[in-house]
Amino acid sequence: MLSLKRILLIVDGPGVMTHTAPLVTSLLKQGVTVRVALTESARLLVGDYFTTMLSGTPLVTFPNIPEKILDDSDAVLAAPVSEKLARRFCEDDWMAIWKRVKGPVAFAPGFLPQEDGSEIRKSLADMGGGVIHWIMAEGEATDMGSLGKLDVASPERCLEAAMTALTKQELAGKSILITCGPTAEDFDPVRFVTNRSTGRMGVALARMAAWRGADVTLVHGPMSWPVPPHDGIHACPVRNAQSMYDAVMAKIDGADMAILCAAVADFTPIEYSTVKIKKQGSSDGVFSLKMKRTPDILDSIGHKAGRHPFLVGFAAESDHVQAYAQAKLEAKNCDMLCANDVTKPGSGFAVGTNQVTVFKRDGSVTELPQMSKEDVARRVLDMALAGMGGPAAG
Ligand code: CTP
Repeated sequence: MLSLKRILLIVDGPGVMTHTAPLVTSLLKQGVTVRVALTESARLLVGDYFTTMLSGTPLVTFPNIPEKILDDSDAVLAAPVSEKLARRFCEDDWMAIWKRVKGPVAFAPGFLPQEDGSEIRKSLADMGGGVIHWIMAEGEATDMGSLGKLDVASPERCLEAAMTALTKQELAGKSILITCGPTAEDFDPVRFVTNRSTGRMGVALARMAAWRGADVTLVHGPMSWPVPPHDGIHACPVRNAQSMYDAVMAKIDGADMAILCAAVADFTPIEYSTVKIKKQGSSDGVFSLKMKRTPDILDSIGHKAGRHPFLVGFAAESDHVQAYAQAKLEAKNCDMLCANDVTKPGSGFAVGTNQVTVFKRDGSVTELPQMSKEDVARRVLDMALAGMGGPAAG
């Protein structure tokens, strides 16, 4: 849950064209109030009404930030900020100003790709006396039109860092393994069997866990939903059920929690043709595919010798949801199982919402209302954390 809610966003130079709109809109979407402070060079590029209209709060002109705004800010984000200004911000007079802010202060410095990025990164990272969090580009270069490219963290990376800074770190030190997305079972070089999962629910879980400070390993099939650029999410892309099983089993030791929400294929073709199967090969116009069972990953963790991590399964059902879910919870030896009825509107594949019922080993059943997949992820993590004996967030 967010414990801090007001952010002061300082924008310097051409970044106002590339970063400000996506950052302000995505922060607002997360319920954060944004005050934007523009430097002179940023104000030259956009009219003063731009940020006022975007954020819904009056523009602050830099460097005249009223003391009240600093005192009311739960966090400060300067994204992007020129390298020169970032260094200036680390001088004594500005450091005294940052210390007035209740929460974290983070800077996303931008520099030209032809400059020696590694040297600049190192020297900046040593500045700020532990008060400043640095959000560095990870191989991203933002196109600034005729101004060329700028080596700066993308708006998405800045958002992930800002949301992490604004969120209570109740999963710090915890290692969580998550599976998500579909698997693809190939039977010739161009064809495969898959399902309708996009991976959105699992990505939401990974993101919400990383915002709370967890170290997340995300083992995912070929999904259509992007993995957020968060330093705490380690993506491990796989293709089929067997490779997902292998990756999970290699990484499960040491995990404190495992959440398996991948839509793993239960069957895979017995044979793989190294050449494309031709339709002329079927004389009667019928093509059949012989398939065999894949390993059940959730079941294997549940029955692994020794202590297993706090284990959360998912079940996508189309009928008898409660009975099937309870049977899966028992059979696969999970601590918690989240079931959804894929036939209900707003509760299935490729939608932004979900409605799950959570079954626990103690017999409790909690029906959550339909909500965004991110809110479902928050609630599932709250319940898992409570089940592990940690604090239950509100
Ligand atoms: N699961 C898994 N490995 C498999 C199949 C399923 O880890 N080979 C996991 C899923 O990630 C999910 C849970 O088991 O957490 C339930 O998956 P689901 O597809 O709903 O059920 P199945 O066990 O496959 O049973 P059925 O298809 O008969 O409903």
